[in-house]
Amino acid sequence: MSVPEKVAQLTQFFYFRLPPGSEPSLDFDAERQPAMVEEAIRTGRAGALLFVTDPSEINRLQRMVVDGNRLGIPALFGFDVIHGLRTIFPVPIAMAASWDPASIEESQRIAAREARAVGIHWTFAPMVDIARDPRWGRMVEGAGEDPYLAGVVAAAQVRGFQESDDPAETVIAGPKHLVGYGAAAGGRDYDEVELSDSDLWNVYLPPFKAAVDAGAKNIMTAYMTLNGLPATGSGWLLEGLLRKTWGFEGFVVSDANAVKNLVTHGFAENARDSAIRALKSGVDMEMAISDPAYEHLADALADDASMAEVLDASVRRVLTAKAEIGLLDAPFVDEAGSREILGRPAHRDTARVAAERSMVLLRNEGSLLPLAANELGSVAVIGSLADSARDTIGPWVFDYDLDETVTILEGIRARVGSDVNVAFEPGIPVVQRTFPSMFDQFGRNRPHDPEDFDETAAFEAAVEAARASDVAVVVVGEWQNMIGEAASRSSLDLPGRQLELLQAVVATGTPVVALVMNGRPLDLRWPASHVPAILDVWYPGTRGGEAVARVLFGDVAPGGKLPFSWPRSVGQVPIGYSHRLSHEPENQARRYWDEASTPLFPFGFGLTYGDVEYSLPVIDRDYMGLHDVATVSVSLVNTADRMVDDVVQLYLHQRFGSASRPVRELKAFQRVTLAARESRTVVFVVGPRERTYWSAASHSWVVEPSVFDAWIGPDSTTQLGVTFEVSDN
Ligand code: BGC
Repeated sequence: MSVPEKVAQLTQFFYFRLPPGSEPSLDFDAERQPAMVEEAIRTGRAGALLFVTDPSEINRLQRMVVDGNRLGIPALFGFDVIHGLRTIFPVPIAMAASWDPASIEESQRIAAREARAVGIHWTFAPMVDIARDPRWGRMVEGAGEDPYLAGVVAAAQVRGFQESDDPAETVIAGPKHLVGYGAAAGGRDYDEVELSDSDLWNVYLPPFKAAVDAGAKNIMTAYMTLNGLPATGSGWLLEGLLRKTWGFEGFVVSDANAVKNLVTHGFAENARDSAIRALKSGVDMEMAISDPAYEHLADALADDASMAEVLDASVRRVLTAKAEIGLLDAPFVDEAGSREILGRPAHRDTARVAAERSMVLLRNEGSLLPLAANELGSVAVIGSLADSARDTIGPWVFDYDLDETVTILEGIRARVGSDVNVAFEPGIPVVQRTFPSMFDQFGRNRPHDPEDFDETAAFEAAVEAARASDVAVVVVGEWQNMIGEAASRSSLDLPGRQLELLQAVVATGTPVVALVMNGRPLDLRWPASHVPAILDVWYPGTRGGEAVARVLFGDVAPGGKLPFSWPRSVGQVPIGYSHRLSHEPENQARRYWDEASTPLFPFGFGLTYGDVEYSLPVIDRDYMGLHDVATVSVSLVNTADRMVDDVVQLYLHQRFGSASRPVRELKAFQRVTLAARESRTVVFVVGPRERTYWSAASHSWVVEPSVFDAWIGPDSTTQLGVTFEVSDN
């Protein structure tokens, strides 16, 4: 291969065709972009494309690629298949809230099958960035605050995308964004990140390690600087840690335009310099919106013979990925076959179950839930989100079919049947962002009200509907374009007049169920003490409304748990359960004089329809050597006369050592479904792996003699514990 032919394999282009009338807000010329990319393809300069999802379009472009380069090497087609392609699953933070790796894996296996069916070979997922600051909108794409949960969820997704009985139904998984992206200063997307070594090793890197260990074949870099060095130009991170230390053998892609951004960071001198520095750092492929920096490589390499090996290694990795995914044998996709796969009812059923398993019951005073459909005469469904198909499926989806999406209103109507009168009132208008979303430009993404929307009349009609009904179901939250990439917020308030509406509905005296549609915690202080039932339904996906109805009416019991600590207000951010203790720990809950410094709902929290009683945990030995393994077990009893769901969680704490350790850390969990009155014993293993941490004293991983506490319970506040000692004798 010639040098330009090699460089082509390392160049990925966005291929955008915006719908007519769109107002492009990205850094590219919408008119010129497709023509520019086609020109690059025809002249053999593109090795990969992204953002095309129509199979006939993929075949057309692939034909051009194959004909356009001397060796006939096809292009990889990549896309953000984040939570489904046609069948939309709950958003990733919701899937994490299921604490159910099997359901997550199966969902992503279906997403992979649908993606591959249209000709996509590679997904830019899972996003495994830890998020401890909900102002950051991309929290919705990840698994929340905890490295252990995030690692389990990451591995399940990688297996789902990449493993199948039929390899032709898999895609390459690309965990992203290495690393620290979720810790953006002030929660402002893309802003710089300063992380302590301890947090980097103990918190932010482990989910990536879990994804690599699960076999991920691609990794995406991050946009920002990490501790002063751009992540996309960090040889320490990419060549050093990822490849040499972790043994990652796949290929690394930059985030969009992140190679050229090395100039923006005040790091590289110009595009040519950024290309050399990115390649040397370990970025195999550049993802470019336009004018790739890597186009300078051929010329730059002529002056630097030492780069030939680096270039060859990168090309080899990309070609290996192409060979392994089967692209070299079958570059084209079966357009007719794709329709059957995208239409499979079984895919929608799995999405419904995934949604049911993701919901988190936050409050249920007086056991208002489940509702008994046969005892109700009327239900008022309130809030425009309740009947918005587009919002039901959430952000980061483009190939959905709104006609097959079940909204909450539709789900409730279908569940209760025609004997129950279901009234719907939006109550308030759609709330618009102060600054529009870059995703609004993609056709049907910007929420709109009907032209004649009368705000005052709508508010009154909603309150009247509640007053006249046996129960009011009020859907509150954020519209889907308020969350995701470039969707950071300075406040966690319910946007618009949603709180006022909820208050007015509660004031009618009708029992109220609040459903929260969200991808981050919102300020629910008032609802948490005034609304009897609160169910977090997230953005539940294609069959979301049906799943909501099945949980509301008790066909299934909720069993999801929060994957983050839910703050009372934005002023507490960041807040997490695995903090360290400091001076006056007895005042831990009173660090602010104006409000408790505890979360509104703790990490791991979620109710079910009934009570699960936990015994004190039992450990099989209370004294052991450094490398010994203990088992800790607990007995559970479902005291309810119905089936319930719970997630049994094990937390560990090291009392002293070479560095100060957090008060507790999640180390194992198991989701359980218990039949009426059923008992179960759950056993966890606690060994050196669970006790290992990265010590700021030695700058290395350590296992130390100490005294440990192990707690088991239904959330991170459990006090049911045992103590054991580890010695190095
Ligand atoms: C995002 C990535 C995404 C890429 C391609 C970027 O702006 O940060 O997460 O995969 O665009 O859509």
